[in-house]
Amino acid sequence: MNIQELKRIFFNLYGNQDQVPHIYFAPGRVNLIGEHTDYNGGFVLPCALQFGTYLLIRKRDDHFLKLASTNFEEKFEYDQSKGYVKQAGQWINYPLGIFSQFADLNVVLPGFDMLFSGDIPNSAGLSSSASIEMVMAYALASLLNVTSLQMTDLINMAKRSENEFIGLNCGIMDMFAVGMGSADHAIFLNCLTLEYKRIPFILSGYKLIISNTNKRRGLADSKYNERVNECREAVDAIAPHFPVKHLGEVGFMQFYKFQEVIKDEKVRRRARHVISENQRVLNAVASLQKNDILQFGALMNASHESLRDNYEVTGIELDTLVEESQKINGVVGSRMTGAGFGGCTVSIVRDDAVDKFIREVGDNYKRKTGLDASFYIAEVSDGPKEIINDTL
Ligand code: GLA
Repeated sequence: MNIQELKRIFFNLYGNQDQVPHIYFAPGRVNLIGEHTDYNGGFVLPCALQFGTYLLIRKRDDHFLKLASTNFEEKFEYDQSKGYVKQAGQWINYPLGIFSQFADLNVVLPGFDMLFSGDIPNSAGLSSSASIEMVMAYALASLLNVTSLQMTDLINMAKRSENEFIGLNCGIMDMFAVGMGSADHAIFLNCLTLEYKRIPFILSGYKLIISNTNKRRGLADSKYNERVNECREAVDAIAPHFPVKHLGEVGFMQFYKFQEVIKDEKVRRRARHVISENQRVLNAVASLQKNDILQFGALMNASHESLRDNYEVTGIELDTLVEESQKINGVVGSRMTGAGFGGCTVSIVRDDAVDKFIREVGDNYKRKTGLDASFYIAEVSDGPKEIINDTL
């Protein structure tokens, strides 16, 4: 990202070159394994990416928020004295939701000039929304010197904003991965207790490749909320026999004893996914610690199978991309990542197979779906930061 160019756009929009804006960055994320487990109080293993959201921000003397983005046409001027109200279908809801979280803490909020710029592939399920929320939260805490707020507080504020202001019942994984990102580490998180550990994730001899189906994720939000409700139904069926509040608390062996109490076959399959996926995360962490990348890859493949057959959140594009990836000699594992219904897959590919992977998977995917896939080589990166030296 060219920071000088962003500064030029900022001054074109807001003038007054004497007052330079602060510049912040928060990454996007990719989940390695542990899908649809976060809102079930289970385990996840995501990492932060080199792509993310830049925010150029400068205080104003009044209480207006001026918002622009290099990714969207619309610019906004928002009067904070009217409170924080969700705007129909607009990107500014992500920063606005964070302002409302700070207002709820009685932080006195001045006006700001803001320019956002993201290089996370659009609608790819790599958490561009959590990245915007976290860059906003981090910038406000830092600029307004709210030292009482730790990173975990900012993460919780971003989650509350997504749940209450945006209206998506997502779990905490995305914000946590963005907020706690660390170069060359995956984040092993218990979403119930928020205990976490950074696990070294250095793929010597392999690359982590993100492949984008470029399929629009239509209806994804309503299907997502439907899965959240199905998991609640599963808990309601299990709870009278076995006192749990979340599927993540149910062990793999326990589930096999109790599964018949879930009468609805579909709901039972949803629970089977969550509970088996939870166990796969534990096994995946153990295999990383033993540096057993082949076992790690086998767990990724098993995760995809369960998301396809038990959780039913894949679809023809994701399944084709994964099948074609798994066919390539040198691919140790491949699975969908994120919410599903489109978006991206993640694959571990031996260095010498990367070119062939991109060429053949791209061709075969195009032949079978008519769509062009995009490929990105992931670099596992750090969490939010202020950019002081802007020669980036
Ligand atoms: C989306 C949500 C996350 C998580 C994943 C599925 O990315 O935002 O909270 O539930 O789907 O694992």
